[in-house]
Order: sequence, then structure tokens, then C-alpha cells
Amino acid sequence: MLTQLVHTQDLNHSEILALLDRANAFLHQKATPPHLAHKRIIALFFENSTRTIASFQNAAMRLGASFSVFNVQKSSTSKGETLLDTLHNIEAMGVDLIITRHQHSSSARYFAQNLRCAFINAGSGTLSHPTQALLDLLTLYNHFEGKLEGKQIAIVGDIKNSRVANSNMELLPRFGMKILLVAPPHFLPPTQHPSTHSLTQALETADVIMGLRTQTERHSLQTYGSLRDYAKDFCLRRVCLQDRQIPILHPGPVHRNIDIEDALLDDPRSLVLEQVKLGVFLRMALMERCLTTDWAEVIRH
Ligand code: NCD
Repeated sequence: MLTQLVHTQDLNHSEILALLDRANAFLHQKATPPHLAHKRIIALFFENSTRTIASFQNAAMRLGASFSVFNVQKSSTSKGETLLDTLHNIEAMGVDLIITRHQHSSSARYFAQNLRCAFINAGSGTLSHPTQALLDLLTLYNHFEGKLEGKQIAIVGDIKNSRVANSNMELLPRFGMKILLVAPPHFLPPTQHPSTHSLTQALETADVIMGLRTQTERHSLQTYGSLRDYAKDFCLRRVCLQDRQIPILHPGPVHRNIDIEDALLDDPRSLVLEQVKLGVFLRMALMERCLTTDWAEVIRH
């Protein structure tokens, strides 16, 4: 049984395919969600979140589990208690699954190693956001009807500071996808993936584009005069895409007209809200798996 998801690497290829199938079975109502009424889930988010926390909550409710959000701002961590002590106290009250988001990249592994209950990383620093990458994979898998081999994804923007980009760069190539990084030099990490500073050039070959938000909260130096300057070169616009029928992804929150222009967000090529919708079913499948001892048996029926 998988009880901890810290990074996408914690799941192998066939485990991921089983999760995608299960998520799709929930989506198409081909499987009845289990009723996990006796399971208690707690989310501790040390960074802000809209989609991710609401998505986990929505998924937990559909599974019949109890879900509470721990109020980090009002907790004793602000009175000097260590994070680990806070977590151990919560665990001691009897909880089946802890979900965390934290600004330090190594936080999730550290929490997971010190907890006995099931654990899911909902975002750790700039390093990892495994559930976002899995829902991105599900969105692409469904859009391309499972045929991901050889498809090129252009990831555009602040790649260096994006845990979403990092997790996708690990996960998508395992399903045959090719990565092309598109960013100004200061937003590019050291990487073995091909890269370009030209969005126009990337659009000539990309089969799908993923926009990213500029992670200004993680910048120690201001690199562009303003986000508007950045947008001149890197905002995804209808006019650059012309009539190319390629899907557009973005994890949200979107900086409108900086990452993607309004018109393109409203265009049928934008799968941004489809990602959000599929995220709920993916998280249902994942939480069911973390909370069910005989999951392999359950999904066989
Ligand atoms: C992302 C995150 O928090 O890493 N959002 C999300 O979870 N959907 C991306 C971001 O904040 O830009």
C-alpha cells in the first residue's frame, strides 16, 4: 500500500496508470467512490492555496472522509513549538492522512519520515508538487487519448522557481513526452532538457504549452522592470498561436495578460479549468489508495 507521496518518483509507471484509470472511472461514474466515513484527513498549509486545498477537500468529501484544515497562522508554531512537535501532536489525536504544503523544499520528505500515518505532499518549496503533476498528466493523457509518446510540451516562464515545472519535468518524460523549456536566462535552471529564450520558436514545434506564474514571492532580486516587460516576450497570446490546435495548460493562479492573455484563457484550446476538474478525481483516487489497505483488490472489481 502506498501511504506516502512526497515526490512523483515515489510512484512507478504502472502505479500511476492505475491511478489515472481509477480517476477516470470516478469521473465517468464507472466506479462508485468508497465510503471512507471512518477516515480522518487533516491539511496543514503553511503557504496560501486556493485550488489545491479546495480540491483535496472536495475529493475527501466525495469519498465520505472527514477533512479539516489546521489553522497554521493561529497555531503554537507561532509560540515557538517546532513543526515536528505540532505534527506529532496532531497525529496523536488520531488522524489517518496528513497533507502539507510548506515553503521549504525538503519539508515534505522530513515530515513523511517522521510520521506514522499516511502523508501527501501538496507542495514543497520550489522542489515538488506531485499531485499537480499527476493531474497535469491525467489532463494530457485524456486529451491525447493515451498517446503521449513523442509529444513535446513547452513549459514557459519561471521554471527555476516552479515546483510544478520540476515535478512535471520528472514525470512527463516517463510517459514518453519531450520537454522544451522556454524562459529568459534567469528563469532557467541548470538542466539536461532542451531550452530556448524564444516563445515564437517554441510554438513551431510544441504539441502542448504549459504556462507558469512568475513566482515573485521566491525572488530575492527583481529581474524584470515589471511583469509587463516580461509579458512582452513570454505571454501566451492568440496571435502567436494563430490557428495551431494545441492545448494550453496552467496550474493556476494565472496572472492574466502576463502568463496568458484573456482571449486565450476563454479559447477552447485552454484546458485550465479541465485541469482543475480532473484534479478532484485524481486526488480521490490517490487518497483512496493511501487510505485503503487492499487497494489493488478494490480496483480489480
Ligand atoms: C502552484 C503552486 O502552488 O505551486 N499552484 C497550484 O498548486 N495549483 C503554482 C503557483 O503558485 O504558481
